[in-house]
Amino acid sequence: MSIHLNLFMLLPGHHDSAWLHPGCDSARVTDIHYYLELARLAERGLLDSVFIADALWHKPRSNYCGGLEPLTVLSGLALGTEHIGLIATASTSYYEPFHLARMFSSLDHISGGRVGWNIVVSNSVNEARNFNRPAMLPHQQRYDRADEFLAVAHRLWESWDEDAVVRDRANGHYTDPDRIHRIDHQGEYFAVRGPLNIQRSPQSRPFLVQAGASEAGRSFAARHADAVFTVQENVRDGARFRTEMRRRAAANGRTVKVLPGLIPIVGATQAEADEKKRELTGLQAVDYALEHISMMLNVDITDCAVDAPFPVERLPPADSIQGNRTTYELITGMARRLGTTVGDIIAHQGFGRGHLVVAGTPERIADVIGTWVGEGAADGFNLMPAVFPAGLADFVDEVVPLLQERGLFRTKYDETLLRRRYE
Ligand SMILES: Cc1cc2nc3c(=O)[nH]c(=O)nc-3n(C[C@H](O)[C@H](O)[C@H](O)COP(=O)(O)O)c2cc1C
Repeated sequence: MSIHLNLFMLLPGHHDSAWLHPGCDSARVTDIHYYLELARLAERGLLDSVFIADALWHKPRSNYCGGLEPLTVLSGLALGTEHIGLIATASTSYYEPFHLARMFSSLDHISGGRVGWNIVVSNSVNEARNFNRPAMLPHQQRYDRADEFLAVAHRLWESWDEDAVVRDRANGHYTDPDRIHRIDHQGEYFAVRGPLNIQRSPQSRPFLVQAGASEAGRSFAARHADAVFTVQENVRDGARFRTEMRRRAAANGRTVKVLPGLIPIVGATQAEADEKKRELTGLQAVDYALEHISMMLNVDITDCAVDAPFPVERLPPADSIQGNRTTYELITGMARRLGTTVGDIIAHQGFGRGHLVVAGTPERIADVIGTWVGEGAADGFNLMPAVFPAGLADFVDEVVPLLQERGLFRTKYDETLLRRRYE
C-alpha cells in the first residue's frame, strides 16, 4: 500500500514571493510546455496526480501571476504524460452542470481515465461580480447549489449506458437509443433534460476532490469527495480531522482519503534548509501582504506596523465571514494562541497560507511524512513546493527515494484509472 502524493501545481510557486526568487522562471506561467515539464517531473517521481487551482477573478499584485485556465491545461498535459492523474478546479457557483459534466467527461476520454475535479463553491465576491451578480450566494446556499450540481452531474455521467455505442453497421445504428437516457431534472437551482452529448468515459465520472473545511464543506465532502485537501498544522489536529472525515464518509457508506498540504523546503543540511526559508520571507512585499490579509479577514489592517501585535480585537466575528472561513480561523487562532506579531502572520501566510511547512534534510522530511501517516493524520500529502521548479525537483530527487526505501511509496505505477489508484 502506497501513500498518496499529489502535486499542487500553483505557478510560480506556493510562497507569496516565489516569482521574485532567482530560481523561478515566472515568465513561463502561460507556457504549456512549462506545465508539461513540471507534470513530467512529477511523473518521474511516480506521484499520484497533479492538481491545478483556480479563482475566477484577477487578484491585483498577487503572487498568482495570471496563469492558464485549468481545464484547458489538462488537455495539454493529458497528451504529454502517460500515468499521472490530472485534477482541475472548477466552481459549482458559476458553471452549469452540463458544461462541467461534458468537459470532465471529454478530459477523461482524452487522458484515458486520469482526470479529477477539485470541486469548489468559490469564496470571493469578486468572482460573483464577473458573473452577472453583485454578491455571492450565502455560504450554505453555495453548498446547497453544489449538492444539486453534483446530483445532476452524476446523472449526466450515467446517462449513457456502458454499452450504448453499438456501431451496428447492418441496421445503420451507431448507438442504441434505449441505452441513452434523459435525466429530466427539475430542482431548486437547475433544470436539465439530458442526456449528456458524449459517450461514457473510462472512469464514468472524474475522481472527486474537495477542500471545504467549514461544517457545510465537510458534510459536502463526506457525501461526494474521494479525497480531501486540507490545511493542518500538527499531527494531533490532522489525526482528529482525518478520523472525523472518515467517520462522516462511512456514515454515507463511503471512504475518503485525506491529504494535508505540505510545503517541503529541502536542504543538504538543516542550516541550508533554514536559510532557504529565510531567503523567501525576506522577499515578501509587506504592503501586498497586509492588503491580502485584510481582504481575507474582512477588516482593514493595512495601517499596522510589522512589529506590532496582531490586532485580534479589530477582527469581525467569524459568522460575518461569507468568504474563506478556514483561513480566518487559522489566522485568528494563531494570533490568539501565540500572541504573534503582524510580521509573524505575514511570514506565516507567505508560506502557502497556513499549510504545514517542513524545512530540513530529505531524511527529516521523510520522517515527518512517515509520522503523519503512521499516526493516522494523513493518507498522503498535497505537495506545495514554495518555488517551481526547484522545490519539486528537490522533492522528487531527494525525498521520493527515501520514501520508497522505507516502503511507504510505490516504485512503479500500477493502476491506470485515477480513482482506482486512490482506493
Ligand atoms: C489545498 C486547497 C486548495 C484549494 N483550492 C481552491 C481553488 O482552486 N479555488 C477555490 O476557489 N478555492 C480553493 N480552496 C478553498 C476551498 O475550496 C474552500 O473554499 C476553503 O477551504 C474554505 O472552506 P469553506 O468554503 O467550507 O469555508 C482550496 C483550499 C485548499 C485547502
